[in-house]
Amino acid sequence: MFDVDLFVTECKAALSAPEPKLVVERLLREAMADVDGLREALGGGAEAVFQPLYRSPELTVANMSTAPGSTSPIHNHCMWGVIGVYAGQEDNFLYQRGANGLEQVGTKSLRTADVYVMPTDLIHAINNPLGEFNAALHVYGGDLVERPGRSIWNPESDEEEDYDIKQILAYTQQLSS
Ligand SMILES: [Fe+2]
Repeated sequence: MFDVDLFVTECKAALSAPEPKLVVERLLREAMADVDGLREALGGGAEAVFQPLYRSPELTVANMSTAPGSTSPIHNHCMWGVIGVYAGQEDNFLYQRGANGLEQVGTKSLRTADVYVMPTDLIHAINNPLGEFNAALHVYGGDLVERPGRSIWNPESDEEEDYDIKQILAYTQQLSS
């Protein structure tokens, strides 16, 4: 079965590597070799959760599930991140800043066992396209909850706003209903 404590310890050790996200990518690929073990250890895929397993100013490890049809507002992270989907599917819509605001520049669909390395300047929205909860293990090179300078984009006005986890949840509800 997946060992949460060992995984967190290995992610912490990865911070000393020249390219921590590449080490974390390898750790997540190894973890995704046993998605059943991840489901068993983390219990994801049955309800919507954002469960930090470890948080420090340098590192966040979190277990996250989103509901069928759930859509997040567009947001950034301001830090690298690596995600491994261990149940269901997560579709990513990728944006960049343009002369007239944000422009959609691509999509990235993640199926069960896929691993995705997100660059520091990533701007995205996520959607669960299936009729079942998804679940993913997320690792970020900073404190995802408290990082200053993060933004979300108001889904109605497209205005960039300061990141606020409560506002993320409110917009997610609005977009998913
Ligand atoms: Fe995100």
